[in-house]
Amino acid sequence: MNLKEYLLENNKNLEYEMSMYFKELSYPQVISEGMEYAVLNGGKRIRPNLLLLTLDILGKEKEMGFPTAIGIEMIHSYSLVHDDLPALDNDDYRRGKLTTHKKFGEAQGILIGDSLLTHAFYILTKKNKRYLSPDKIIHIVEKTADYAGINGMIGGQTIDIESEGKKIDLKTLKYIHSHKTGQLLKLPVECGCIIGDATYSQYEALQKYAELLGLAFQIKDDILDVEGDFEKLGKPIGSDTNAEKSTYPSIIGMVESKKLLNKTIEDAKKTILIEFEEDKAQLMLELADYIKDRDK
Ligand code: IPE
Ligand code: IPE
Ligand code: MG
Ligand code: MG
Ligand code: MG
Repeated sequence: MNLKEYLLENNKNLEYEMSMYFKELSYPQVISEGMEYAVLNGGKRIRPNLLLLTLDILGKEKEMGFPTAIGIEMIHSYSLVHDDLPALDNDDYRRGKLTTHKKFGEAQGILIGDSLLTHAFYILTKKNKRYLSPDKIIHIVEKTADYAGINGMIGGQTIDIESEGKKIDLKTLKYIHSHKTGQLLKLPVECGCIIGDATYSQYEALQKYAELLGLAFQIKDDILDVEGDFEKLGKPIGSDTNAEKSTYPSIIGMVESKKLLNKTIEDAKKTILIEFEEDKAQLMLELADYIKDRDK
């Protein structure tokens, strides 16, 4: 199976499971509808697939990773809902549709995001009971809270917003990228290691791979904000330039950004091959190239 088929099949199953979770929610309708609108709307599902890929490479059943994969995708989707708010990036389109606050109003948009974040922890605990030991669930919840909060995504988002209109150094830019995006991409891989009982050396290789992938992912996101196509990307082009954001293209230039993207992807692939045989690592290697070459 190649990566494209793998993602298609997983996404079908993940989205079916998510829709079942949403069926349990009804009142207030604006929140249950809004949560579904913000999650079940054509995301690429890179983070849940990273968790499933980690289980695959460890030779484990992927079904037991579903609740954690979905919880993480809910947190990622909440981060997008809040990222698009007028007080943050003020964007009107996401995943090819109106952003959640544009569709449901700003106050409800904030509450829908809050609700996704909170509900993710309900899923991580309640739905994982069927598959995982209490020790593993506690470990997953601890890591998720850590990587989504001040030590992770929120930390990065804060400095991203604070740096608008300023000249920042490369060290600060690296902090922004590794936190606002990197931590939520590392999270599913590390959770996959917990669920799949990775050895320490497997964990180290996978964690390093995810770290490099996270950096590459945001460099590419910055490049697409300049060179992307709105129809394909489903979100506005030029949003970073308009907000005077600090990005890789704005700080080191487009040519250097692309060089760094290529190098980071090659390093990620090498890291995986130190620990895993090439045939087992195939899909993870393909994912690295997909992140480099993606147009959405
Ligand atoms: C967008 O993430 C926000 C970033 C962290 C760069 P994705 O590009 O994974 O967005 P979706 O989930 O596919 O919409
Ligand atoms: C997003 O960074 C990081 C998040 C935590 C959502 P961006 O602001 O660059 O993401 P897009 O370009 O709006 O998807
Ligand atoms: Mg942003
Ligand atoms: Mg944004
Ligand atoms: Mg962006």
